[in-house]
Amino acid sequence: MFGLTRARKTAAVLAATAAAAATALLTAPAAVAAPQPIVGGTTTTTTAYPFMMQITDASQDQFCGGTLVSPTKVVTAAHCMVGESTGSVRVVGGRTYLNGTNGTVSRVSKIWIHPNYRNVTSGDDVAVLTLSTSMPYTTAKYVSSSQTSVYAAGTTARVLGWGTTSQSGSSSNQLRTATVPTVSDSSCRGSYGSDFVASDMVCAGYTSGGVDTCQGDSGGPLLIGGVLAGITSWGEGCAQAGYPGVYTRLTTFSSLVTAQVNS
Ligand code: ARG
Repeated sequence: MFGLTRARKTAAVLAATAAAAATALLTAPAAVAAPQPIVGGTTTTTTAYPFMMQITDASQDQFCGGTLVSPTKVVTAAHCMVGESTGSVRVVGGRTYLNGTNGTVSRVSKIWIHPNYRNVTSGDDVAVLTLSTSMPYTTAKYVSSSQTSVYAAGTTARVLGWGTTSQSGSSSNQLRTATVPTVSDSSCRGSYGSDFVASDMVCAGYTSGGVDTCQGDSGGPLLIGGVLAGITSWGEGCAQAGYPGVYTRLTTFSSLVTAQVNS
């Protein structure tokens, strides 16, 4: 088992660590690189990616990402929803900044978690939220169950999120994005052994690391050709050489998601 941590539930600890790190940086040599986004990407906006949703608590504090796939349905990770209830969660669209107050806030009327979900390294890390209020934003298409070739090793995939910009860093106030190549199942098995369940997961990242999703990005999209093909799920640390990010393989769950979208 790897040292997995779950989203922003650890936000207080992360913030304290970040404050200590920031203080240390004041006296650190100039050669210390600034932490990069997501890890290693660029800033973007919800105007550029209108289907990118913040999943927040009732105080609108973001702890995961989600993807709008119909005006009232959001795809996210099952592990983001563990311990949550319809009353404890909000979905916020059209808000590029974590500290913004703009956009559209919706309550959640139903949380569907894959019935077999147990933990991220067993797979089935998918959930669908039904919104009480329609989101006036362009939705994302998602892969159909037959589109398994989208994951061919080396394919460029895009990730998005407000997650931490380094393994023990703090979240990004502005939405960030990065591109990462998909990794073959055999290579990912080499990294993670039996924790990698090829039927349910797909890996993406550079062999040398440096670019990755991180804590707080979970639930957000892995886009291939602009289409939702994965959900940020887990990894050993973040952006470490030899340990790519692991994403829910959405083709496996596409029919189940469609059943929820149409329900
Ligand atoms: N579990 C994390 C979350 O809940 C996502 C971690 C992704 N890790 C990675 N190395 N890609 O936000």
